[in-house]
Formats: sequence, C-alpha cells, structure tokens
Amino acid sequence: MLNWDSSYSVGIQEIDDQHQKLINFINELEQALVESDNREAVVKVLNGLVFYTKDHFAQEELYFRQFDYEKADDHIEEHNDLITQVEKLVYQFEVSGAFDIPNVIDFLKAWLIEHILGADQEYVSCFKENGL
Ligand SMILES: [Fe+2]
Ligand SMILES: [Fe+2]
Repeated sequence: MLNWDSSYSVGIQEIDDQHQKLINFINELEQALVESDNREAVVKVLNGLVFYTKDHFAQEELYFRQFDYEKADDHIEEHNDLITQVEKLVYQFEVSGAFDIPNVIDFLKAWLIEHILGADQEYVSCFKENGL
C-alpha cells in the first residue's frame, strides 16, 4: 500500500486530487494482483489505471499549452514513456496472464512518486502564476 503523504502535494487541489486517485489505482492493482486469480479483474484495474493516467497527463499538458510552460517537451516525454511502458505491461499480462507482480508494483510506485516529486513540482510556480 502506498499512502498519500503531504510531501507529495503540489499545492494545487485539482492536481493533488488526481495524484491521489492515481495512487489509489496502484493500490487497487496491487490488491487485485495479490488477492485475485481473476485475470479479468486485474485487466480491468490495469485498463482503468491506463485510462486515468492518460486523462491526468492530458490535463497537465493542456495547462502546459495554455500557460506556455517552458519545460513542457521534457515533461511530456516522461508522460509518454510511462504510458508506453504501462501499455506494454498490459499487453504482456493479456498475452501471458502473469507478470512479475512485485516488480510491476514497485516500478509504478517509484515512477509515480519520482514524477510527482520531480517533474510535477517544477511546473507549480508557472501554474500558480497563471492563476491555478
Ligand atoms: Fe506530470
Ligand atoms: Fe502529475
């Protein structure tokens, strides 16, 4: 279980809410993988995670365009990298019905936290200057 920590906050409620929801998805996935031998349940959570992650990234990227954020290109590249990697995981799971569970969960947690504490923190002053 990954718990929300106030140090993850970017100080913008809308974004924090979305990050918390992403963390919830990862926790749900962990639970589904550990408790359930129901592949469909796992695939459903995985697809939900991918869908919601894309949604969140799209929201951040919309603000990048609106606010003409100077580090947008590198940031978007990080987003696209994660989507590519997670879609690969979904595909692997659908094909083989299994993957290295601890590794997948650790990877997702580490990526999310690093991104929230790293790249996401960097846009905070720009977003705030633009009224968020
Ligand atoms: Fe981001
Ligand atoms: Fe984010």
